[in-house]
Amino acid sequence: MTQMKQYQKAASYILARTDSNPKIGLILGSGLGVLTEEIQGAVKIPFEHIPFFAKPTAEGHKGELVIGKLGGVDVVALSGRYHYYEGLSLQQVTFPVRVMKLLGVERLILTNACGAVNETFKPGELMLIIDHLNLVSSNPLIGKNQDDFGPRFPDATEIYTKKLRDIATEEAQHLNLKIQQGVYAWWSGPSYETPAEIKMIRRLGADAVGMSTVPEALVASHAGMEVLGISCLTNMASGILPQKLSHQEVLDVALQVREKFSLLVKNIVKKI
Ligand code: HPA
Repeated sequence: MTQMKQYQKAASYILARTDSNPKIGLILGSGLGVLTEEIQGAVKIPFEHIPFFAKPTAEGHKGELVIGKLGGVDVVALSGRYHYYEGLSLQQVTFPVRVMKLLGVERLILTNACGAVNETFKPGELMLIIDHLNLVSSNPLIGKNQDDFGPRFPDATEIYTKKLRDIATEEAQHLNLKIQQGVYAWWSGPSYETPAEIKMIRRLGADAVGMSTVPEALVASHAGMEVLGISCLTNMASGILPQKLSHQEVLDVALQVREKFSLLVKNIVKKI
Protein backbone atom coordinates (compact mmCIF):
# COMPACT_ATOMS: atom_id res chain seq x y z
CA MET A 1 0.00 0.00 0.00
CA THR A 2 1.31 3.45 -0.83
CA GLN A 3 2.13 5.83 2.01
CA MET A 4 -0.59 8.16 0.75
CA LYS A 5 -3.17 5.38 1.04
CA GLN A 6 -2.11 4.85 4.66
CA TYR A 7 -2.57 8.53 5.53
CA GLN A 8 -5.95 8.47 3.77
CA LYS A 9 -7.13 5.37 5.63
CA ALA A 10 -6.22 6.93 8.96
CA ALA A 11 -7.98 10.19 8.04
CA SER A 12 -11.13 8.35 6.87
CA TYR A 13 -11.24 6.39 10.13
CA ILE A 14 -11.18 9.65 12.09
CA LEU A 15 -13.63 11.50 9.82
CA ALA A 16 -16.15 8.67 10.18
CA ARG A 17 -16.32 9.45 13.91
CA THR A 18 -16.81 13.22 13.90
CA ASP A 19 -18.66 16.00 12.11
CA SER A 20 -16.16 18.71 12.93
CA ASN A 21 -13.84 20.30 10.40
CA PRO A 22 -10.79 21.41 12.34
CA LYS A 23 -8.47 23.92 10.69
CA ILE A 24 -6.29 24.03 13.81
CA GLY A 25 -4.19 21.15 15.09
CA LEU A 26 -2.51 20.86 18.46
CA ILE A 27 0.26 18.49 19.52
CA LEU A 28 0.52 18.71 23.27
CA GLY A 29 3.74 17.68 24.96
CA SER A 30 4.61 16.66 28.50
CA GLY A 31 2.15 18.00 31.00
CA LEU A 32 -0.11 19.87 28.61
CA GLY A 33 -2.24 16.96 27.45
CA VAL A 34 -4.85 17.98 30.01
CA LEU A 35 -5.89 20.78 27.70
CA THR A 36 -7.86 18.15 25.80
CA GLU A 37 -10.12 17.81 28.86
CA GLU A 38 -11.43 21.27 28.02
CA ILE A 39 -12.44 20.24 24.51
CA GLN A 40 -16.22 20.21 24.24
CA GLY A 41 -18.15 17.53 22.43
CA ALA A 42 -14.88 15.63 22.38
CA VAL A 43 -14.46 12.51 20.30
CA LYS A 44 -11.45 10.68 21.75
CA ILE A 45 -9.62 8.01 19.80
CA PRO A 46 -6.65 6.13 21.30
CA PHE A 47 -3.65 6.17 18.94
CA GLU A 48 -3.63 2.38 18.75
CA HIS A 49 -7.13 2.32 17.24
CA ILE A 50 -6.21 4.54 14.30
CA PRO A 51 -4.98 2.63 11.24
CA PHE A 52 -1.22 2.94 10.70
CA PHE A 53 -0.57 5.03 13.81
CA ALA A 54 2.45 3.44 15.52
CA LYS A 55 1.69 1.12 18.41
CA PRO A 56 2.39 2.83 21.72
CA THR A 57 5.79 1.74 23.02
CA ALA A 58 6.69 1.10 26.65
CA GLU A 59 8.60 4.38 26.59
CA GLY A 60 5.82 6.36 25.02
CA HIS A 61 3.30 8.54 26.75
CA LYS A 62 -0.30 7.39 26.56
CA GLY A 63 -1.67 8.98 23.45
CA GLU A 64 -5.07 9.85 22.10
CA LEU A 65 -6.44 12.00 19.36
CA VAL A 66 -9.22 14.33 20.47
CA ILE A 67 -11.53 16.26 18.14
CA GLY A 68 -14.04 18.85 19.27
CA LYS A 69 -14.35 22.51 20.18
CA LEU A 70 -11.79 24.40 22.26
CA GLY A 71 -13.18 27.77 23.28
CA GLY A 72 -15.76 27.41 20.49
CA VAL A 73 -13.19 26.63 17.79
CA ASP A 74 -12.95 23.26 16.03
CA VAL A 75 -9.62 21.62 16.82
CA VAL A 76 -7.94 18.27 16.51
CA ALA A 77 -5.48 17.64 19.31
CA LEU A 78 -2.96 14.96 20.07
CA SER A 79 -2.61 14.39 23.77
CA GLY A 80 0.81 12.80 23.85
CA ARG A 81 3.11 12.36 20.87
CA TYR A 82 5.55 9.91 19.39
CA HIS A 83 9.26 10.46 20.00
CA TYR A 84 12.26 9.38 17.95
CA TYR A 85 13.93 7.97 21.09
CA GLU A 86 11.16 5.37 21.36
CA GLY A 87 12.83 3.58 18.46
CA LEU A 88 10.24 4.66 15.90
CA SER A 89 11.15 5.91 12.45
CA LEU A 90 10.74 9.63 11.83
CA GLN A 91 7.97 8.71 9.37
CA GLN A 92 6.10 7.05 12.24
CA VAL A 93 6.79 9.98 14.58
CA THR A 94 5.33 12.45 12.09
CA PHE A 95 2.56 10.27 10.63
CA PRO A 96 -0.19 12.10 12.59
CA VAL A 97 0.88 15.46 11.12
CA ARG A 98 0.08 14.38 7.56
CA VAL A 99 -3.16 12.82 8.74
CA MET A 100 -4.07 16.18 10.27
CA LYS A 101 -3.31 17.82 6.93
CA LEU A 102 -5.78 15.46 5.25
CA LEU A 103 -8.35 16.35 7.92
CA GLY A 104 -8.04 19.97 6.75
CA VAL A 105 -5.64 21.38 9.33
CA GLU A 106 -3.91 24.58 8.16
CA ARG A 107 -2.28 25.79 11.37
CA LEU A 108 -0.45 23.55 13.83
CA ILE A 109 0.44 24.44 17.41
CA LEU A 110 3.28 22.36 18.86
CA THR A 111 4.09 22.41 22.55
CA ASN A 112 6.85 20.74 24.51
CA ALA A 113 8.89 20.70 27.69
CA CYS A 114 12.56 21.56 27.24
CA GLY A 115 15.74 22.60 28.98
CA ALA A 116 16.91 26.22 29.08
CA VAL A 117 20.30 26.71 27.43
CA ASN A 118 20.14 30.50 27.56
CA GLU A 119 21.29 31.30 31.10
CA THR A 120 19.07 34.37 31.34
CA PHE A 121 15.98 32.11 31.13
CA LYS A 122 14.39 30.54 34.19
CA PRO A 123 12.62 27.23 34.79
CA GLY A 124 8.87 27.70 34.64
CA GLU A 125 9.03 30.32 31.88
CA LEU A 126 7.53 29.83 28.45
CA MET A 127 9.45 30.30 25.20
CA LEU A 128 8.11 31.04 21.76
CA ILE A 129 10.15 29.09 19.22
CA ILE A 130 11.44 31.48 16.56
CA ASP A 131 13.58 28.93 14.73
CA HIS A 132 15.20 25.57 15.30
CA LEU A 133 18.47 23.70 15.04
CA ASN A 134 18.23 20.12 13.87
CA LEU A 135 21.07 18.41 15.76
CA VAL A 136 19.85 14.90 14.95
CA SER A 137 21.49 13.67 11.78
CA SER A 138 18.24 12.83 10.12
CA ASN A 139 15.13 14.43 8.69
CA PRO A 140 11.58 13.04 8.47
CA LEU A 141 11.40 14.12 4.81
CA ILE A 142 14.23 11.77 3.75
CA GLY A 143 12.98 9.20 1.26
CA LYS A 144 10.74 9.48 -1.77
CA ASN A 145 9.11 12.89 -1.73
CA GLN A 146 5.35 12.89 -1.19
CA ASP A 147 4.57 15.42 -3.91
CA ASP A 148 0.91 15.59 -2.85
CA PHE A 149 2.02 17.24 0.39
CA GLY A 150 4.87 19.48 -0.74
CA PRO A 151 8.07 19.97 -2.74
CA ARG A 152 11.25 17.89 -2.64
CA PHE A 153 13.33 20.80 -1.32
CA PRO A 154 11.05 22.82 0.95
CA ASP A 155 12.01 26.29 2.06
CA ALA A 156 12.75 26.56 5.78
CA THR A 157 13.29 30.29 6.29
CA GLU A 158 10.13 30.82 8.31
CA ILE A 159 8.83 27.51 9.63
CA TYR A 160 7.45 29.15 12.78
CA THR A 161 5.53 31.92 11.03
CA LYS A 162 5.86 35.50 12.18
CA LYS A 163 2.10 35.91 11.87
CA LEU A 164 1.40 33.22 14.47
CA ARG A 165 4.30 34.35 16.69
CA ASP A 166 2.92 37.88 16.75
CA ILE A 167 -0.52 36.61 17.78
CA ALA A 168 1.03 34.46 20.52
CA THR A 169 3.08 37.40 21.81
CA GLU A 170 0.01 39.61 21.90
CA GLU A 171 -2.07 37.01 23.74
CA ALA A 172 0.72 36.51 26.28
CA GLN A 173 0.74 40.28 26.86
CA HIS A 174 -3.03 40.27 27.41
CA LEU A 175 -2.54 37.61 30.08
CA ASN A 176 0.37 39.53 31.59
CA LEU A 177 2.46 36.46 30.98
CA LYS A 178 6.18 36.71 30.33
CA ILE A 179 7.16 34.78 27.25
CA GLN A 180 10.74 34.39 26.08
CA GLN A 181 11.70 33.95 22.44
CA GLY A 182 14.42 31.70 21.18
CA VAL A 183 15.91 28.97 19.06
CA TYR A 184 15.02 25.37 19.96
CA ALA A 185 17.62 22.67 19.38
CA TRP A 186 16.42 19.12 18.76
CA TRP A 187 18.40 16.45 20.57
CA SER A 188 17.42 12.81 20.01
CA GLY A 189 17.63 11.74 23.64
CA PRO A 190 16.79 9.68 25.55
CA SER A 191 19.93 10.66 27.47
CA TYR A 192 19.90 14.25 28.54
CA GLU A 193 22.81 16.26 27.18
CA THR A 194 26.22 16.34 28.84
CA PRO A 195 27.50 19.71 30.13
CA ALA A 196 29.99 19.77 27.21
CA GLU A 197 27.17 19.19 24.75
CA ILE A 198 25.20 22.07 26.26
CA LYS A 199 28.23 24.37 25.86
CA MET A 200 28.39 23.32 22.21
CA ILE A 201 24.65 23.77 21.71
CA ARG A 202 24.82 27.29 23.20
CA ARG A 203 27.72 28.23 20.92
CA LEU A 204 25.73 26.96 17.95
CA GLY A 205 23.02 29.49 18.75
CA ALA A 206 20.31 27.63 20.66
CA ASP A 207 18.37 28.99 23.62
CA ALA A 208 16.64 25.75 24.56
CA VAL A 209 17.01 22.04 23.96
CA GLY A 210 14.50 19.21 23.79
CA MET A 211 13.66 15.84 22.28
CA SER A 212 10.65 16.59 20.07
CA THR A 213 8.83 19.16 17.93
CA VAL A 214 11.36 19.61 15.10
CA PRO A 215 10.27 16.50 13.14
CA GLU A 216 6.61 17.52 13.31
CA ALA A 217 7.43 21.14 12.39
CA LEU A 218 9.43 20.04 9.33
CA VAL A 219 6.64 17.80 8.05
CA ALA A 220 3.92 20.36 8.76
CA SER A 221 5.83 23.14 7.04
CA HIS A 222 6.52 20.89 4.03
CA ALA A 223 2.76 20.37 3.75
CA GLY A 224 2.16 24.12 3.75
CA MET A 225 0.90 24.42 7.30
CA GLU A 226 1.69 27.43 9.44
CA VAL A 227 3.46 26.31 12.61
CA LEU A 228 3.53 27.81 16.09
CA GLY A 229 5.86 26.29 18.68
CA ILE A 230 5.72 27.03 22.38
CA SER A 231 8.07 25.47 24.89
CA CYS A 232 7.83 25.20 28.62
CA LEU A 233 11.34 25.63 30.05
CA THR A 234 11.21 23.01 32.77
CA ASN A 235 14.85 23.08 33.86
CA MET A 236 18.20 24.71 33.27
CA ALA A 237 20.10 22.52 30.80
CA SER A 238 22.81 20.15 31.93
CA GLY A 239 25.84 21.66 33.66
CA ILE A 240 24.35 25.11 34.27
CA LEU A 241 23.37 24.34 37.86
CA PRO A 242 25.31 22.06 40.23
CA GLN A 243 22.64 19.37 40.14
CA LYS A 244 21.56 16.41 38.05
CA LEU A 245 18.61 16.45 35.65
CA SER A 246 15.62 14.25 36.30
CA HIS A 247 12.46 13.45 34.40
CA GLN A 248 10.56 14.00 37.64
CA GLU A 249 11.77 17.61 37.78
CA VAL A 250 10.59 18.10 34.20
CA LEU A 251 7.14 16.72 35.03
CA ASP A 252 6.87 18.74 38.27
CA VAL A 253 7.63 22.06 36.60
CA ALA A 254 5.39 21.26 33.61
CA LEU A 255 2.60 20.65 36.10
CA GLN A 256 3.18 24.00 37.83
CA VAL A 257 3.06 25.87 34.53
CA ARG A 258 0.17 23.89 33.10
CA GLU A 259 -2.60 26.32 33.97
CA LYS A 260 -1.09 29.46 32.43
CA PHE A 261 0.22 27.49 29.47
CA SER A 262 -3.27 26.03 28.81
CA LEU A 263 -4.93 29.43 29.06
CA LEU A 264 -2.44 30.95 26.64
CA VAL A 265 -2.92 28.18 24.08
CA LYS A 266 -6.70 28.41 24.42
CA ASN A 267 -6.63 32.17 23.80
CA ILE A 268 -4.30 31.78 20.83
CA VAL A 269 -6.63 29.20 19.25
CA LYS A 270 -9.45 31.78 19.31
CA LYS A 271 -7.31 34.35 17.48
CA ILE A 272 -5.61 32.38 14.72
N1 HPA B 1 17.10 18.40 27.61
C1 HPA B 1 16.42 17.71 26.67
N2 HPA B 1 15.10 17.52 26.74
C2 HPA B 1 14.45 18.05 27.78
C3 HPA B 1 15.10 18.76 28.79
C4 HPA B 1 16.49 18.94 28.70
O1 HPA B 1 17.16 19.57 29.55
N3 HPA B 1 14.14 19.15 29.69
C5 HPA B 1 12.95 18.68 29.21
N4 HPA B 1 13.13 18.02 28.06
